Amino acid sequence: MGKIKLGIVGFGCVGQGLHTALQQTKGINAEIVKICVKDRNKARSLPQEIFTYNVEDLLDHPEINTIVELIDDANAALEIVKAAILRGKAVVTANKKMLAEHLEELSDLARKHQVPLLYEGAVCGSIPIIRNLEEYYDNDLISSVHGIFNGSTNYILTKIAEEGQSYEEALAEAQALGFAETDPSLDVEGFDPKYKLTILLAHTYGLFVRPEEVFNLGISRLSTFDAQYAREKGFKIKLVARGKRVGEKVFALVAPQFIEAADPLARIDREFNAVVVEGAFSERQVFVGKGAGSLPTGSAVLSDISALSYGYQYEYKRHQQHLGAEYSHEAVLDVYLRYENPALVNFDDFESVTESYVGDEGNYITGSIHFDALVQAKWIHEPGNSLILNAGADFVPALPKKKKLANQLA
Ligand SMILES: NC(=O)c1ccc[n+]([C@@H]2O[C@H](COP(=O)([O-])OP(=O)(O)OC[C@H]3O[C@@H](n4cnc5c(N)ncnc54)[C@H](OP(=O)(O)O)[C@@H]3O)[C@@H](O)[C@H]2O)c1
Repeated sequence: MGKIKLGIVGFGCVGQGLHTALQQTKGINAEIVKICVKDRNKARSLPQEIFTYNVEDLLDHPEINTIVELIDDANAALEIVKAAILRGKAVVTANKKMLAEHLEELSDLARKHQVPLLYEGAVCGSIPIIRNLEEYYDNDLISSVHGIFNGSTNYILTKIAEEGQSYEEALAEAQALGFAETDPSLDVEGFDPKYKLTILLAHTYGLFVRPEEVFNLGISRLSTFDAQYAREKGFKIKLVARGKRVGEKVFALVAPQFIEAADPLARIDREFNAVVVEGAFSERQVFVGKGAGSLPTGSAVLSDISALSYGYQYEYKRHQQHLGAEYSHEAVLDVYLRYENPALVNFDDFESVTESYVGDEGNYITGSIHFDALVQAKWIHEPGNSLILNAGADFVPALPKKKKLANQLA
């Protein structure tokens, strides 16, 4: 590609961060031709002539060869990205929700029309994880990719652990500082890290999994009792996104987890993110950085724009290689469950119980539960119940839930 002529859609937090990063970076052969925004009445920091309110002005512009999609509306973003690809324009986007929900369709479309579609900014902001998974770990068999993929919830959990704040106080502070959305459910219920995990599953294991197939449990039901339990054991609680491959099976979930002091995730506090990659030959590597924010995300978008200048595009090598991996729930997990009302827990869902405690201040059991039972258990979402993965817990392959019961009966 010669000079990169950009049409940017969206000039909010990330769009402005990209603009600043682009202005201050020498040696990138790129220039902004036009920016499309929505609200005609908003004051802008750039001359009015550069803005338009009609995305067709970008899509039809003969000079613009690259559309940078940075809007906060996943449905509108999908239409813009598809239209840009169909018109042969390269696309850079940071829209994790849109990507997670349509990744297979969009990557197929981009390949068919031979245009690059890059989205490093969509997963953990400034951490360069997608290109590393695509290129650096090319020949390594990755057994696990997991970590802290959401800065708002990590900020809240840090405040609860360090300052003894309640969940509500910590959330209000995170919102006041701009780390959490006004409607925080995408963060605190674990949807945002799930979208990022879904995207990483494609690049790590070659699997296109729909986000609704990935189980997510957030942090909104964690209580001071849980925080106290963690403190007494020397653990932290983190919201962990976890993708693991064992043999031909791939497992994935987002859930709170107790983290031991020696675990690298224990040191990831406040709005920071971390991605831990475990490979057969490379062993464990930890990427740490700011997972969101104007400049960190803008710099990831800029890095994609720079990559376009040397013709870079994702090859989805592991998907092309048909590695035979299959998405599965055939595993058990080691968990802690706090509950208020025993009538609202199906204890039969547990495969085994290692500890059971009943007290005035709270009740809990620890033990193992089949992943399928966890996914289907409606009682887990009762307000008085909080489920946390035990320290060190990971997917342990098991027979399918039904088959196991049948075997037991036999
Ligand atoms: N913020 C972060 O730290 C972060 C990190 C990683 C990824 N992302 C992703 O990056 C994207 C942008 O996030 P953001 O935080 O920058 O959002 P934002 O601050 O809310 O800005 C959104 C921008 O999109 C424009 N817009 C919305 N709908 C539009 C439409 N239909 N046509 C044209 N323009 C439209 C808005 O226009 P007006 O200015 O006229 O309102 C605004 O400029 C999202 O997909 C988000 O998930 C964000």
